[in-house]
Amino acid sequence: MKKLSARLSAVASLVKAGSYLADVGSDHAQLPLYLISSGKISYAMAIDNKMGPFLRMKQNVEAAGFKNQIYCSLSSGINEIRTDIDTVVICGLGGILTCELLEQHPDKLENVEHIIVDPHRDLRAVRERVTALGYYIEDERMVYEDKIYYSIMLFSKGVPPKPYTETDLCLGPVLRQRREPVFLSFLEEQRKKISDILNKNLSKEARENYLAAYRMVANELKKDA
Ligand SMILES: C[S@@+](CC[C@H](N)C(=O)[O-])C[C@H]1O[C@@H](n2cnc3c(N)ncnc32)[C@H](O)[C@@H]1O
Repeated sequence: MKKLSARLSAVASLVKAGSYLADVGSDHAQLPLYLISSGKISYAMAIDNKMGPFLRMKQNVEAAGFKNQIYCSLSSGINEIRTDIDTVVICGLGGILTCELLEQHPDKLENVEHIIVDPHRDLRAVRERVTALGYYIEDERMVYEDKIYYSIMLFSKGVPPKPYTETDLCLGPVLRQRREPVFLSFLEEQRKKISDILNKNLSKEARENYLAAYRMVANELKKDA
């Protein structure tokens, strides 16, 4: 079994055992192959909308001898997921595209209990828009790999225990609660990045926005001081 990256391992750890999983943007089908061969799940759809990745994942699935457990689909987003799929994974895509792929088909989400996402941008929008589809953030993981901080979110059907604040949406309600060292390092890096930007020439509006972001991050860090 090919070893997963730290990021994909964190995604795999958020999958509930026995899930019926659709991995959207599966590329090499690495995640479903890992989950099936480890015995955590017994059925998955590996979905990609481009011919190159589709052929690659099909080849990998066949070579591993899992073509009865992993169905490879050349399709976009959740357009063609089966009705028994209860978990949708969308990892490694932009945040806005991630939201759009889910919002386009509310009917397809009827039986989907869990959505796991690892958006590489626009995290605030993802937290807000996926929550608006009838989910809450059950768990979050932050991983630092190849000099990048990744935030991986597990949404589950239901409503948040209390409405998310602006800081929750920007920084992650579960990450804020857990305050793991990787999250605190991320905050430090953000504070430094924003501070460097504030030292440049900015329009009044941009300066105000960056100042607000700086205050949010600095306040969050203060809790540990
Ligand atoms: C950067 S790779 C991510 C691979 C893997 N999910 C991961 O996180 O390592 C993104 C993959 O998503 C596929 N993709 C992009 N838009 C898609 C869409 N609308 N539907 C399905 N797959 C899509 C791309 O072809 C590509 O193979």
